[in-house]
Amino acid sequence: MIRDGTVFDDDHLPSSIVGRNRHMNEVTDALAPIQDGFRAENCFLFGPSGVGKTTVAKAAVRELRQEVLDVPHAYVNCWQDYTRNAVLEQLARELVGAALPRSSSTDRLIDLITSNLHGPGVVILDEVDQLRGTEVLYDLHEIRGLSWIGIANREVDLLADLDERVTSRISVAYRVNFDTYGEDAITEILSRRAREGLGPNAVGEDVLARIARLSEGDARQAIAALWVAARMASREGLSAIPGRLVEDAVADAEREVRQKTISKLNAHQACALRGP
Ligand SMILES: Nc1ncnc2c1ncn2[C@@H]1O[C@H](COP(=O)(O)OP(=O)(O)OP(=O)(O)O)[C@@H](O)[C@H]1O
Ligand SMILES: [Mg+2]
Repeated sequence: MIRDGTVFDDDHLPSSIVGRNRHMNEVTDALAPIQDGFRAENCFLFGPSGVGKTTVAKAAVRELRQEVLDVPHAYVNCWQDYTRNAVLEQLARELVGAALPRSSSTDRLIDLITSNLHGPGVVILDEVDQLRGTEVLYDLHEIRGLSWIGIANREVDLLADLDERVTSRISVAYRVNFDTYGEDAITEILSRRAREGLGPNAVGEDVLARIARLSEGDARQAIAALWVAARMASREGLSAIPGRLVEDAVADAEREVRQKTISKLNAHQACALRGP
């Protein structure tokens, strides 16, 4: 039944991106100048949970890396790295591979990045609305050749506490809006995931379509439900997922996803209380 459970991990980057051609093109177009040695356009990806924002951003950078092998790139999750210094440290490490002294000042970090960034690079700022203060967006603008893909659920959350210097600069950033998936797109996403992660004929189209219908356009919920259903069937010693498991699997998956969000929230609050 289960061949490769890792394809159901939330951070698994699928080899093909379903139903997001327009979004992929917009992001790869924004990054295209890098191929000619120029700074890319900054862009923002907005949309609800589970609609492929992080996936599209990472897949666009993956495509760019196929063209420009050694393009400097980094991924920062601003939930975890929500202070100016934390973001810059992450960039110094990932983007330019700098060895960091124990604790470095903001200026020192910016210096390190600037002097080690040779040629244009790109950074994904995921959950960028979680930054405490947006000064770092200004810092990034000052670094020659550096561009970013900022990801958030809603533009208003981001604009709430923007500093004026930053506002004028990000107002020109390109926006890509994501909406929820239709049932057909979710069914196709599930079908490919099943092909990669489950045994042959482990799940029928009808079961996938039912999971899709109950997932309300959220690919994360749908994939989690398929994974729960596969584990349930496997525990019963079955080689295929029967339709009768779908509703329980969807409900369990919703709980699992909610639980993960809560523990992420708690970890975040605990960090916030401890301070940077
Ligand atoms: N078009 C797609 N093709 C294949 N898999 C997808 C696609 N869109 C989303 N997924 C899968 O769905 C899950 C959720 O997607 P993703 O993490 O990109 O959502 P998100 O929009 O960033 O959500 P959030 O706002 O909660 O971070 C991931 O496991 C991802 O692999
Ligand atoms: Mg995301």
